[in-house]
Amino acid sequence: MRRPLVMGNWKMNGSLLANKALIGALEVTADDCKAIDVAVCPSFVYLSQVTELCSSSPIHVGAQNMCDQDKGAFTGEVSADMLRDLEIGFVLVGHSERRAIYSESDAMVAAKVNKALEKGIVPVLCVGETLEERQSGEMQAVIESQVRAVLDSASIAAFAQIVIAYEPVWAIGTGETATPEQAQEVHAFIRNLLAEHDAKIASRTTILYGGSVNAGNAAELFAMADVDGGLVGGASLKAADFSAICQAAQASV
Ligand code: PGA
Repeated sequence: MRRPLVMGNWKMNGSLLANKALIGALEVTADDCKAIDVAVCPSFVYLSQVTELCSSSPIHVGAQNMCDQDKGAFTGEVSADMLRDLEIGFVLVGHSERRAIYSESDAMVAAKVNKALEKGIVPVLCVGETLEERQSGEMQAVIESQVRAVLDSASIAAFAQIVIAYEPVWAIGTGETATPEQAQEVHAFIRNLLAEHDAKIASRTTILYGGSVNAGNAAELFAMADVDGGLVGGASLKAADFSAICQAAQASV
């Protein structure tokens, strides 16, 4: 049985004041939603603060990115050991904004996944196609190559420790969500890709959906057989909306 996970990706948002208010408002929800895991991913600058704020609640804290190198002359980067210092449990890897704006390749994403695994941090491997790729029939090939880059450089066994987030690029921040059927189709495709290597691991891998998840559409998305929760951007900044999404995941169990 896969345990649902709802993760808030705060992106480049937040402030000391706003984070405190948001976590304060989410604590009750996280306490109530015992059948799921709830996590938030603040900016690096606020990881310490949010970790402290979450210390007496079940809310997990994740980072939004990480360097594939251990340490040294990598100005502006943050290492896995630094995240471990703060006991950060998750790290988003290969978010489409990292791939598109900062040119992260499949190989770079795979290197980051491997580094996170080596250091005992759960990588949340983000994959997804653009609208053009979907319309030109390349969707499956794109997603397969994104997953295969990690399969080839790690191994199928690594997927016992990896969370996958399917985030169609055309649905991120656009208000346009994949239909539950579209999400299910891709989630099943990803799970089948893994199952070709190891059916047991495939059946246990958590696959989140991300892309304009909100309080109104979460329940129908989470009702799909292969959708194990959500990676939530915009709606994760609003306590009432994120709470409603967590409750929808809890109700789906
Ligand atoms: P969104 O972002 O929910 O605002 O579409 C999702 C994400 O980028 O993870």
